[in-house]
Amino acid sequence: MKTVALVGCGSLGGNIAGGIQGQLNREYKIVGLYDSNPAAALALSRQTECPAYGSLSALLELKADYVIEAATSGALKEIASQALRNGSDLIVLSAGAFADEGFASGIREEAGKLNRRIYIPSGAIGGFDIMQAAMALGQVEASIYNIKSPEALEGAPYLKGRQLSRTEKETIFTGNAREAIEAFPKNVNVAVALSLATAGPEKTKVMVVSVPGSKMNTHRIELAGDFGSASIEISSWPSLENPKSSEIAAYSVIAKLKNLSSAISFC
Ligand SMILES: NC(=O)c1ccc[n+]([C@@H]2O[C@H](COP(=O)([O-])OP(=O)(O)OC[C@H]3O[C@@H](n4cnc5c(N)ncnc54)[C@H](O)[C@@H]3O)[C@@H](O)[C@H]2O)c1
Repeated sequence: MKTVALVGCGSLGGNIAGGIQGQLNREYKIVGLYDSNPAAALALSRQTECPAYGSLSALLELKADYVIEAATSGALKEIASQALRNGSDLIVLSAGAFADEGFASGIREEAGKLNRRIYIPSGAIGGFDIMQAAMALGQVEASIYNIKSPEALEGAPYLKGRQLSRTEKETIFTGNAREAIEAFPKNVNVAVALSLATAGPEKTKVMVVSVPGSKMNTHRIELAGDFGSASIEISSWPSLENPKSSEIAAYSVIAKLKNLSSAISFC
């Protein structure tokens, strides 16, 4: 039985804990939870009967086999090095942190030296299999349209408090993945994950589109390169607790854990 420590007890953290206990209880045991909001940690601790810890370092000292991050980019940056040095592998949802080149190169080097792994699950998108195969074959250009309701986008730093139209569809951002995660830190982790798997944050194009009345979060990915071309479109229901997030992202962590414990695994 492998052990898991969970950082972040919000909407996705709750789904991940439920998924592990409901589907993977023979393979994994959650040994501890942490959230910077003690009430969130306590609520999930009561629900799951897993102990909540009062500090990140106390949680990481458990030296779980896997530390799952479902919090923020800032939290990931805070825990990554200590978790790896404690012998844990990381499974991360706030992939946007890797748009920070200093963090990305430092943590990659540290994980390499320590022979530890950092897993970026597919989150709210998919197609990492074709991205990796295409990159192995040659050059790839990648772009992503991030299509959400105005309610799911409002509050982002880029909008500076601006209210989006409730009647007109609007492309509100065009730029690369590094610029996109600064502009929409809670919405475009997927764009950074795509960029890491393909052409990198500078060269991956991102468009953010506000569509009034849109009930789902839609990501349309276009790949073109030496292999040929691919279009991947995924529409997923927003999390009930957090419309900026998609529940499927939590279950991509469950899928990753299943792959890690299975004799046969998918890419
Ligand atoms: N990779 C993807 O495809 C994908 C998809 C959806 C969401 N996400 C990302 O996953 C993360 C979690 O999403 P969510 O919907 O559960 O968010 P949420 O806001 O519902 O929950 C986040 C939780 O993290 C806690 N938190 C904040 N800072 C913390 C810190 N420093 N240490 C510990 N806990 C901290 C908050 O109190 C909150 O309870 C976010 O960064 C989100 O952007 C990624």
